Amino acid sequence: MTANEFLGQGAYYIYLISAVLFIFGLKQLSRVRTARRGNNLAAFAMLLAVIGTLLELKFAKGLDIDFRWILAGAIVGGVIGIVAALRVAMTSMPEMVALFNGSGGLASALVAAAVVWDQLILKDGLAPASAASNLGDGGITEAVSIVLSVLIGAVTLTGSVVAFLKLQGRLKKGAPIILPGRHVISLLLIVGAAASGIYFGFVGETADAYATGTIVLALVASILGVLLVIPIGGADMPVVVSLLNSYSGLAACAAGFVINNPLLIIAGSMVGAAGLILTNIMCVAMNRSLLNVLVGGFGVAEGASADHGEYEGVTSCDAEEAAMVLESARSVIVVPGYGLAVAQAQHVVRELADLLEARGTKVQYAIHPVAGRMPGHMNVLLAEANVPYDQLVEMDAINPEFRDTDVAIVLGANDVVNPAANNDPKSPIAGMPILDVEHARTVFVIKRSLSPGYAGIKNELFERDNTMMIFGDAKKVLNGLVNEFKELS
Ligand code: TAP
Repeated sequence: MTANEFLGQGAYYIYLISAVLFIFGLKQLSRVRTARRGNNLAAFAMLLAVIGTLLELKFAKGLDIDFRWILAGAIVGGVIGIVAALRVAMTSMPEMVALFNGSGGLASALVAAAVVWDQLILKDGLAPASAASNLGDGGITEAVSIVLSVLIGAVTLTGSVVAFLKLQGRLKKGAPIILPGRHVISLLLIVGAAASGIYFGFVGETADAYATGTIVLALVASILGVLLVIPIGGADMPVVVSLLNSYSGLAACAAGFVINNPLLIIAGSMVGAAGLILTNIMCVAMNRSLLNVLVGGFGVAEGASADHGEYEGVTSCDAEEAAMVLESARSVIVVPGYGLAVAQAQHVVRELADLLEARGTKVQYAIHPVAGRMPGHMNVLLAEANVPYDQLVEMDAINPEFRDTDVAIVLGANDVVNPAANNDPKSPIAGMPILDVEHARTVFVIKRSLSPGYAGIKNELFERDNTMMIFGDAKKVLNGLVNEFKELS
């Protein structure tokens, strides 16, 4: 075996190792305790994948590769990625994920377009025949894969850009945009995409026809991506971002078939499946149907009405009064929400919990699956403050405990504790499972005002007899509580 053959063969072993590492990395990502290690493992697997691909192209397929272009691309992309990751605020993570999904979709569509360009448009001496015939062995699979790559890639790109703009509040402040007859328009676009895909792969017989089919397909898919996301309201956007993540994986998988790269097929299908599983978990957590997400426009239930009514009989107290109640509490459940992230109060809440525990109080944290602005948001924040993992309890496990709990501290959370989800069938969050904090003996709600949360609706929890509001920035209020406790001890 020559050195070149050895390196060419080595590429396939590297693919194998990389695929196994991806699987282990993904598995570890599913648990808070191992998530960091899983991320590092998957990143290392990706590095191996890049090395394997270059070895395969150069030594197994004998292509004349100019590594300088690849290196330049890797450096530019790497620098953009590092700067973006270092600068992004934790609260803006969904926007960043949306942009990354869009980039993945664009990359897959470009890979397919490059193959059309290289193999069909620039190639000399092609017979006047369909793209599928002119692509040689496996031409039908390749033509279909090209169509899917461009279709799903373009939908993912424009859908993700719209999701990004909505999350930033730059597009109608994130509110749903409902076009008249949108389902008919979407159906026509799907038919148009199918027709242009068939024209590209199986009808057109010239370079012009291949190019026209591909460009029309990309344009139609781009409009479809916009239409699928604009009718979705801000509160449901995380589900869409997760779904687009799944689409980007499927587009990558299709691109893997286009260039016949087994690792891209494996990695793409893993992202596709994981994204779909996460989407489903979030749909269950928000009581939405997956089908509605898939066809777009969910979260705008017919007859839904947001209650923006005035508050009556709200009681409030200050840190000193709250400390007196907490002093005698035997059990406390902290319910973190988006406001905790805004206030960056994770370290001081840990400090308060330590002081309570030192007095013999049992402290737990109730984690709602969509608290905050991204999946796992609260877990990440609390892990930053080294809150022990065993104190973090998922919604289903903690809900029965509220009845036996002395104090629930709602910390910058709003929608995820809103009883309207259970009591008002017309509420935009009707049916969303919530944390049943109202059953605790005393509920302290720490937030700056009576302003609504992400769903933009009134929260009747604030009017309950056992609820006391502590108005102020979460970090300042907690600092006040910590000081009170230090004085007590
Ligand atoms: P929200 O319902 O958004 O409520 C957060 C509350 O935090 C607000 O009412 C706000 O009230 C308060 N707040 C903001 N800054 C604060 C500060 N510095 N100190 C104290 N309080 C502060 O949050 P949630 O209960 O976590 O619910 C999450 C919502 O976001 C759900 O509707 C969910 O569907 C949606 N969502 C979730 C995700 C994921 S995947 N987690 C992604 C996107 C959207 P004040 O202004 O009065 O302080």
